[in-house]
Amino acid sequence: MRHVPVLLNEVLEALQLKNGSNVIDCTLGDAGHAEMILELTGPDGKLLGIDADAEAILRTKQFLYKFDKRVVFARDNFENLKQIVEENKFENVNGILMDYGWSSPQFEERGRGFSFLKTDEPLDMRYDTYLKCSHEVTNPPLTPDGKPIYGSCSAAELLYLKDFRGLEEIFRKYGEEKLSKEIVEAIIEKRKEFPIETVGDLVNVILDVYRKKLKTDKEVPWVGGLHPATKVFQALRIAVNDELGVIERVLPQALEILQSGGRLAVITFHSTEDSIVKHYFKSQNNKTIKIVTKKPIVGSDEEVKNNPRSRSAKLRVVEKI
Ligand SMILES: C[S@@+](CC[C@H](N)C(=O)[O-])C[C@H]1O[C@@H](n2cnc3c(N)ncnc32)[C@H](O)[C@@H]1O
Repeated sequence: MRHVPVLLNEVLEALQLKNGSNVIDCTLGDAGHAEMILELTGPDGKLLGIDADAEAILRTKQFLYKFDKRVVFARDNFENLKQIVEENKFENVNGILMDYGWSSPQFEERGRGFSFLKTDEPLDMRYDTYLKCSHEVTNPPLTPDGKPIYGSCSAAELLYLKDFRGLEEIFRKYGEEKLSKEIVEAIIEKRKEFPIETVGDLVNVILDVYRKKLKTDKEVPWVGGLHPATKVFQALRIAVNDELGVIERVLPQALEILQSGGRLAVITFHSTEDSIVKHYFKSQNNKTIKIVTKKPIVGSDEEVKNNPRSRSAKLRVVEKI
């Protein structure tokens, strides 16, 4: 199933596209936004499409083949934006789009362990299994001569390597999980017996904690309409991919790369992401940029009805001075 782009018309309008506009899509995904951007910027405009996920890049080549040499692909983390732009000699940038998070095929089909419903999948959660994580791991494994090994780190490895404080902080900060302490205690007990390697292993630990707390024997004790694993899974995904860190690092690069009059459009899906974007834009307002959207743009009732993912989407747009 192809990912349905959120706030599509709003993004296209915000970027003020015309023939010859050069645009960078930092989160190519399934190229829903990219395809329409290329339609509107033809016949001369170019698009640099970046995604960390090699499978996404391969798949989008099918959707974008008709645009031929107008598209340049880069399999990379967008936190390396300046370097990617330089390496590809992608110049005169009129628009940049960022649409954070996962795409539908990653969630549904690629066996990455993003969904707590896919209990047989390995607990990986990296957008790209080759991506180097830049966060620090407490008590990393050591080489034979005693040097710590950092690097590509899946959710399962994180659960094994982090200590109590590290895990509790992740669940509390990135998931606002109320039972973070109890869940981490249960994980630490469990991992003494066997490694938590699949989605099902982790979901079972979380369900046990909730059943005990709520004194129920329901198979899934839903909490305020949410599956008890929702927040822990969100938190782990954010930590594994350092999702907040990459946003902080990419925004200044995007503003540097844009031409004067060029526009940056950013779509976020939860309040912590949105607050990083909002505060950074505020700090630059009337210095390097003009804020175009005083309040974030959200999905219409119709879009929210047809595409549940758009429920939490917020679009902020700025223009380079
Ligand atoms: C929400 S999807 C984008 C959907 C796209 N706009 C569309 O219309 O199909 C987000 C994409 O960003 C990618 N991504 C997430 N974090 C990334 C990062 N730090 N660097 C590069 N790509 C990233 C994911 O692999 C995913 O394919």
